[in-house]
Amino acid sequence: MTRHAVFVAAPLVLALFAGAAQAQDLDALKADTRKNALPVLPKVVAMMQETVAEKGAADAIPVCKEKAPQLLKEQAAKTGWDMRRVSLRTRNPERGTPDVWEARQLADFNIRAANGEKVETLETGEVVTENGKQVYRYIRAIPVGDVCLKCHGPVEQIDAGLKSQLARSYPQDSAFGYAKGQIRGALTVKRPL
Ligand code: HEC
Repeated sequence: MTRHAVFVAAPLVLALFAGAAQAQDLDALKADTRKNALPVLPKVVAMMQETVAEKGAADAIPVCKEKAPQLLKEQAAKTGWDMRRVSLRTRNPERGTPDVWEARQLADFNIRAANGEKVETLETGEVVTENGKQVYRYIRAIPVGDVCLKCHGPVEQIDAGLKSQLARSYPQDSAFGYAKGQIRGALTVKRPL
């Protein structure tokens, strides 16, 4: 190897190592984020299934309205990260409206699902700069299961009493009309680096 080639190659090799290390860091961040955030999702589904079975759908409203946000809040307090649920079609726009990054990822999830990716495993993790600071952002699709249809399914199939109950609390409700297997929304996490 000529002296010139060594000079050229050394920074290149260093850059490659740095790239590999960064990819590894990102994998570790994603794994750690999953471990701390994702267990909330099956917990909410189980709670919803149990409550609907035992008390009926009208009495299960608090599971989506209070329990799910509460569990995320507890996990957020434990980790120090931001955690919430967002959707492109919200029932509660005050809480669930996505920011620009989240809206872009949700749109991308819809495209990926249309291309055959499994909705249950759709996720994205990315380091982004916000207000001059680097943060790690993670977002994971929340699929529509059978039990969700009671309150998020086609509006003509929703129980009349339940529908009027929902209408009283949510005058701007866009969260009807889903089918099983679609993307209801996403769990989103923002953690400082
Ligand atoms: C008993 C009725 C009911 C059922 C069943 C139900 N939800 Fe909800 N869902 C609601 C209500 C009410 C809200 C609004 C919560 C709030 O005020 O923040 C909501 C909100 C949400 C949101 C937050 C975004 C938004 O639209 O405001 C997500 C995500 C969500 N539901 C997912 C699900 C999933 C997934 C299931 C099935 C496992 C499900 N829901 C089943 C009533 C229900």
